[in-house]
Amino acid sequence: MSYDKILLSTDQAEKILLKYFNIIGSATSLPGEIDFNFKINVNNKPLFILKVSRPDDKNTRLDFQQKLLEYLSVNNKTLIAPEIVKDNNGNSISKYIDNMGNERMVRLLTWVDGRVWSSIKPQLEDLRYSLGKHCGSLTSTLQNFNHPEAHFNFDWDIGQSLWTKEYIHLFNDAEEQIIISFQNKFERNKPNYDKLRKSIIHNDANDNNIIVNSDFVNPKVKALIDYGDAIHTQTINDVAVTCAYAIMDYHDPLDAVLPIISGYHSEFQLLEDELLHLYNAIGMRLIISLTKSAINKVKEPDNVYLLISEKPAWKLLKKWHAINDDFAYYSFRNACGFTAHPKEDDLKSWMRQQHFELPQLFPTINRNSIHHVDLSVSSNWIGHQNEFNDLDLFQFKIERLQQKYPDKIIAGGYLEPRSIYTTSSYDKIGNHGKESRSIHLGIDFWLPAQTPVHAFIDGEVVIAVNDAGDKEYGGLVIIKHNLKDFNFYTLYGHLTVKSATSHNIGDVIKKGEVVGKLGNYPENGNWAPHLHIQIMLSLLNYKNDFPGVAFHRQISVWKSICPDPNLLLKSNAFQNNSPIKNNNLITFRQKHLGKSLSLQYKTPLKIVRGSGQYLIDNFGRKYLDTVNNVAHVGHEHPAVVKTGQEQMAVLNTNTRYLHENINLLAKELLKTLPPELSVIHFVNSGSEANELAIRMVKANTDSQDIIASEVGYHGNSNACIDISSYKFDGKGGKGKPDHTHIIPLPDAFRGKYKGADSGKKYADEVQNRIDTIQDKGRKVGAFIIEPIISCGGQIELPEGFLEKAYQMIRNADGLCISDEVQTGCGRMGKTFWGFQLHNVVPDIVTIGKPIGNGHPLAAVACTQKVAEKFANGMEYFNTFGGNPVSCAIGTEVLRTVHQENLQKNALVVGEFLKSELKSLSKQFPIIGDVRGQGLFLGIELVDNATNPLPDETEYLVNRMKDYGFLMSSDGPEHNVLKIKPPLVFSKKNAEELLYYLSKILDEDFMTKCYDSV
Ligand SMILES: Cc1ncc(COP(=O)(O)O)c(C=O)c1O
Repeated sequence: MSYDKILLSTDQAEKILLKYFNIIGSATSLPGEIDFNFKINVNNKPLFILKVSRPDDKNTRLDFQQKLLEYLSVNNKTLIAPEIVKDNNGNSISKYIDNMGNERMVRLLTWVDGRVWSSIKPQLEDLRYSLGKHCGSLTSTLQNFNHPEAHFNFDWDIGQSLWTKEYIHLFNDAEEQIIISFQNKFERNKPNYDKLRKSIIHNDANDNNIIVNSDFVNPKVKALIDYGDAIHTQTINDVAVTCAYAIMDYHDPLDAVLPIISGYHSEFQLLEDELLHLYNAIGMRLIISLTKSAINKVKEPDNVYLLISEKPAWKLLKKWHAINDDFAYYSFRNACGFTAHPKEDDLKSWMRQQHFELPQLFPTINRNSIHHVDLSVSSNWIGHQNEFNDLDLFQFKIERLQQKYPDKIIAGGYLEPRSIYTTSSYDKIGNHGKESRSIHLGIDFWLPAQTPVHAFIDGEVVIAVNDAGDKEYGGLVIIKHNLKDFNFYTLYGHLTVKSATSHNIGDVIKKGEVVGKLGNYPENGNWAPHLHIQIMLSLLNYKNDFPGVAFHRQISVWKSICPDPNLLLKSNAFQNNSPIKNNNLITFRQKHLGKSLSLQYKTPLKIVRGSGQYLIDNFGRKYLDTVNNVAHVGHEHPAVVKTGQEQMAVLNTNTRYLHENINLLAKELLKTLPPELSVIHFVNSGSEANELAIRMVKANTDSQDIIASEVGYHGNSNACIDISSYKFDGKGGKGKPDHTHIIPLPDAFRGKYKGADSGKKYADEVQNRIDTIQDKGRKVGAFIIEPIISCGGQIELPEGFLEKAYQMIRNADGLCISDEVQTGCGRMGKTFWGFQLHNVVPDIVTIGKPIGNGHPLAAVACTQKVAEKFANGMEYFNTFGGNPVSCAIGTEVLRTVHQENLQKNALVVGEFLKSELKSLSKQFPIIGDVRGQGLFLGIELVDNATNPLPDETEYLVNRMKDYGFLMSSDGPEHNVLKIKPPLVFSKKNAEELLYYLSKILDEDFMTKCYDSV
């Protein structure tokens, strides 16, 4: 019968509702594979779902479904599920004769309110965990329920999935291969699979059947609906179905599936044997779905619902197929709290029992103890990236260490997080953005090239290859060892290619025989000669190599597959370099460090290394830094680091002696400033610079009346706080002092005066303050403002404002100070200093953060006149200001800005980013304003009445961190995202940032304020 003929209209549904249930409601059609489903609104509220069967449906299982729902409502009071509404005659199933005279079954169920899984963005780990937990609880409740109709032939039952073999011809060659590989495995494993425990399961937790609560911060699964596919089958199939649907559209489906399994297991304990079949069961469920679509495409080409899940299902199946099934199994086990590898404990206890000594491994090296070398991300010993990439230098350092410890073997590395691997083969895009393999799985022994390595127990060669080139090891040998009831493997990496490939696969190597000789660089894959030894419980189907470094997210699985080789050696020289949680640091900090220090992010980060535009945490995770305008030319810029180190080794003292460096830095600075600003004073921080500027004002004008902007920040000293409305008007502040005069924040978007022509109005506010000062019979000291007000929320001064304000101040004999602590040194792109954007020349310019690239260095530039009046006889002495180390660093920073064309980069990348952000604001109206210059931008988040959205801003900052982007927010309402990265930030970085920003802007928490309108 054609689909059109059996289709039911909403009109018919409403009539059925009235006739059988005496309910007046309005029906809306819902998608359904077999039944025709209608959502029933009564008084505009969804209250019921009406289900009408197909006439040709020989499904006699409706009684089973109804009994199942009844069973649930009696046996699990906390589990929400649809409830049965009986008809006028007290039946839970009514019979209806349609227009064609066919009998159709009608049921009415209560509507479960909430959001459908498919509409939820994002579906984070906690939500997936709650999905598993909910399904597990349902399965657990159903353990003692049975019904004769629950045993039937069903295409959607994974247990019966081999029917799909008949339809293999519907797929192309590549697809066919993937499908066959799952089918064959399923068939092979069927005897054991058939023995798994069985029970009645829901069997259809697809994304339209999962209802999520309406909590946007911490969403949880509330209910499962549609019990039409429930069946008695292997219980693990329910886990497989749940997983198969919930992990579509993830970069890394294995990572995505694990919280579901943990959640399931927390309510319904899965057995190890069941987990063994889970990977393939997930594949088979996808194959059922794809085969159904392929068949139905031919049968009912106009039924869109049938085709809906085909595309993502294919994408997922291909990715799932590429995952090693053993690794998946170990990961599932780990998610359930079993040892990831079933033999982990056995191997470890065997290793502990062995009496094994270093000379057995290296008989030609007569040393039996170890000196631990630290190659972790935070290691000062490995130093700068440029140092560890210099192979000769690295070799030299190892040799020096060896000379220092002649009786020891230099070694280390097990579970060490390293950031020394920089080729792209170590990177992937995971579910949390870019991830890099960083966790070292073996121990490295640093010994001379050609040192022979001997086998410590008998074994058979399974891999002996040249693993050089892009790969990790140079010459690589893997030996298999048979113990009583399991095998394990030993990996010997970084050998000479010749010695490694002298073995044939299958060769037996006896205890004490030579495995190979240590290779030299570059043949050995990387750095100085060393042996990488790694113990493995599985080869995971690797044929020519094996990972020696793993992703941190998978550390608990890998450490189970690859136990610590030191269990054999039993040396206590190895320090634990494996990354630890940061709780201890936080506790100490809270107790013993200044109580007003704050920490960023809900889960604070421990950053241990910087590199260019990246910061790297103690787990080796790299974050793109969009915040740090202090690391102006890039974190740990090699030239800057080198200059600082070199000068520090020679001399650092105060400015009472002649030295080139202070003059050189002054000259570099003067080159960038207009000729009027020709005197430089060096200090150590932005606060000190502004503090000195205030002293200059007092000396010059005999006044301490200073005009500043609302929400301005100028430093942490007493005098600076007194002119910083951001502080004295903020938390803990005591309001403005008498000598400070605040103008409204000159914000043309949401300020007192709006629009492009607001410059004059804000300038008039300056005049107002001048008048107030003069009305009190006092003189105007100065006007201080940043060219773009950073703490104010990246507020660009409106056109014409600064020029007019400066004129007014000068007319009143006051001084004009431009605070360039944030904006200076090329960041603006178009100009080197922010004031230059406004066609003015200040009397004093204060310079801070960027000039030292992280080193405490700041400066005050002023006119000859200001400088002369300040030098009134009282010496200005500053212990550290202008010292040779700081000045060498500052000079190198300014040179680097020029040499690397970083001002131009700020302009090009900044303008690209700004214009793309503006385009994004059309797609996401939550972006109310995009502003700023060069690489000093702000994104203001507002609702459609321009109210600030601080919670959404904080959410965005934290979510961006999840994806590996460091961002910060500011502004009086904390609703402005600031973008002010190191100037080496590239267009590609900007593109990555935009990609993830748009992803998160589309998440429910961000869109809710617009959706609800
Ligand atoms: C505009 C402005 N001026 C001055 C300062 C004070 O600089 P420092 O923290 O180096 O003392 C800051 C610091 O954030 C600032 O943003």
